[in-house]
Amino acid sequence: MSAQKQLYEGKAKIIYTTDNPEILLAYFKDDATAFNAQKRGSIAGKGEMNCTIAAYLFQLLEANGVPTHFIDCPAPGKMRVRALRILPLEVVVRNIAAGSLCQQTGLLVGTVLPQPLVEFFYKKDELGDPLLTRDRIMLLNLATPEQLDQLRSSALRINQILSDFFHQCGITLVDFKLEFGLDVQQQLLLADEISPDSCRLWDQAEADPDRRVMDKDRFRRDLGNVESAYQQVLERVQKGVEGRG
Ligand code: TMP
Repeated sequence: MSAQKQLYEGKAKIIYTTDNPEILLAYFKDDATAFNAQKRGSIAGKGEMNCTIAAYLFQLLEANGVPTHFIDCPAPGKMRVRALRILPLEVVVRNIAAGSLCQQTGLLVGTVLPQPLVEFFYKKDELGDPLLTRDRIMLLNLATPEQLDQLRSSALRINQILSDFFHQCGITLVDFKLEFGLDVQQQLLLADEISPDSCRLWDQAEADPDRRVMDKDRFRRDLGNVESAYQQVLERVQKGVEGRG
């Protein structure tokens, strides 16, 4: 299984074709961007750390009955995945108010939501990934009503599994972003990655609002110690998975 031509380069990954048309190879980069790539940088070791963290979490989800695009990791920082037609939607689940929810609603950072909130954003950099409504999703034919219902219930199920797992790791899963794709049988599979780039993760042992941050907000907000926070997430996830036997 050799990597062949580059199919696509995103902000955090490069996708290559392989000699099997149903399989792609994702190479995780150290590059980091924020605010629609207005802020750019690099986080040393991020590619390998995120690839490993995402692999553990995809396997955890698969073991709990959630279908994902994950196949295996043939080398550090490289993941073989099923080729899918990715829906141009970012599905965000929130347990605690942070980020754009606070900016757009005035809710205070850290407000515990009465129930998880599922939001859909349009994956379109030129438009700045705007928040969508159900009717806008229908208008733009981004998903069918059935797919939208399935995305929502799958996102909530994933939230339950990941929140419980991170809690066992001493981490609060504040919010996260998912992407999904359709295989040739039109089955919805979880795609992209789940990592400190795509989640807000707070250390349960830290009360300080800056010190508790273990995710890409350290980079977005120039909080420092970015690499060591990602490393800490990796170690805790690794330990959490091993603890489950
Ligand atoms: P937000 O509060 O900025 O809308 O972000 C919600 C969650 O989505 C947060 O965990 C970070 C993640 N996210 C991404 O993975 N990619 C993005 O481009 C953005 C804006 C957020």
